[in-house]
Amino acid sequence: MDVLRIRGGKKLNGTVQVSGAKNACLPILAATLLTDEPCIVRNVPLLSDSTAMRKILEHQGAVVEDLGGNAWKICAKNIIPATPYELVRKMRASICVMGALTGRLKTAEIPYPGGCVIGQRPIDLHIKGLKKLGCEITQDAGVIRIDGSAMRGAYIFLGGRNGSTVTGTSNILMAAVLTPGTTQIDCAACEPEIQDLCEMLIKMGAKIKGVGSPKLTVTGVKKLHGCEHSVIPDRIEAGTFLLCGAITGGDITVHGAVREHLGAFLDKLNEAKVPFEVIDETSIRVRGDLMKTFVPVDIVTFPHPGFPTDLQAQFSALMAITPGISLITERIYPNRFMHVPELGRMGASISIEGATAIVKGGTKLSGAPVMASDLRASAALVLAGLVADGETWVQRVYHLDRGYEGFEKKLARLGADIVRLDDSQMPRYDD
Ligand code: EPZ
Repeated sequence: MDVLRIRGGKKLNGTVQVSGAKNACLPILAATLLTDEPCIVRNVPLLSDSTAMRKILEHQGAVVEDLGGNAWKICAKNIIPATPYELVRKMRASICVMGALTGRLKTAEIPYPGGCVIGQRPIDLHIKGLKKLGCEITQDAGVIRIDGSAMRGAYIFLGGRNGSTVTGTSNILMAAVLTPGTTQIDCAACEPEIQDLCEMLIKMGAKIKGVGSPKLTVTGVKKLHGCEHSVIPDRIEAGTFLLCGAITGGDITVHGAVREHLGAFLDKLNEAKVPFEVIDETSIRVRGDLMKTFVPVDIVTFPHPGFPTDLQAQFSALMAITPGISLITERIYPNRFMHVPELGRMGASISIEGATAIVKGGTKLSGAPVMASDLRASAALVLAGLVADGETWVQRVYHLDRGYEGFEKKLARLGADIVRLDDSQMPRYDD
């Protein structure tokens, strides 16, 4: 199994191009099932999650051709409604195909996705939305069976106890675009990734109003046609690299950092007195080298445009070395703190009170062998390793490979002393 060995203390400098957004790409790939005509999706991030979604599309009967240069051509001429548990189990985001299969075939059989370390990950809102559209839904032996033969447009309030649902919104959108009548989705997710999906669906001939707002109105059409679409840059990767510049005191220009996608995050970076400059609408330069002082901040995660839960763990790493008390509260996944005990192994002083991490920042971090547990926690451990004294060995790097394309290569190009090794090369630490 792969590990990352990081020798901390290097300032990172230079420019980096973020890849396509994983959380836009996955529903966009699922959307190619909505038409029997070929679609070309560009800026596909080369991630294990992209590969997992490709396997699912091919299982359904789509032909996926890699055109090179991060472009895929997908043709879903004849497809089947059932998705295998083996594939859904590996990546819960495959739930995104449920809406597309229901929209195209008016039937679907999807294994109930499990949870993951960051939380329960329920899909009750997805089911509620499909039922409102007139679907008959049964569940047995862990499989959700959907009969959408009588689907009609409807008004759907899609908000849940923690606000809007991102993949729930994409599923209901993809079911509604081919459903006769008008569908109103209230409390829809406004994430840039949902806006990107809407843009692609509109290119395919879908009729969607209110893109980017919490009220989406879909007028069903009979058929959708193929299209070409380029996935937006990954705002979470962009934010992660901006934090790399801050935490190492480096000067990094991040291409693909779109200011309007990162409003709440940049506001907190500003509050933390991290100097940065918005160069143009898709590039931001962080000047960790000009930092005079670090200022602790309080963060509460919220659905977009609030502070993104997917950048919470990474920000915690910066706050761990920031003198003072920072409070980081998770309103989306209240136990998304798997990075905390591992940062503790490196000397961070963070305690958890319910859904809030109390960070007593300012300690000097020291390298240690640490265990990645989920995608964003892994990124937080890498960030800490970049600034820690000595060697940090991040294990279970497959978590990182789900959402960061060539992460260690991009970091090495910025001057980090980071290398991917086999875990057999790890020094043996006597526990
Ligand atoms: C998407 O997950 C992202 N994944 C997650 O990114 C991200 O953390 C999350 O949105 C929140 O922004 C993809 O887009 C593939 P939700 P999703 O449905 O859609 C509750 C990463 O690191 N809820 O928006 O599964 C849920 O428990 C990943 O890239 C219900 O109660 O999240 C949570 O508290 C991790 N019932 C909140 O809503 C439902 O039916 C938001 O969940 C659905 C969700």
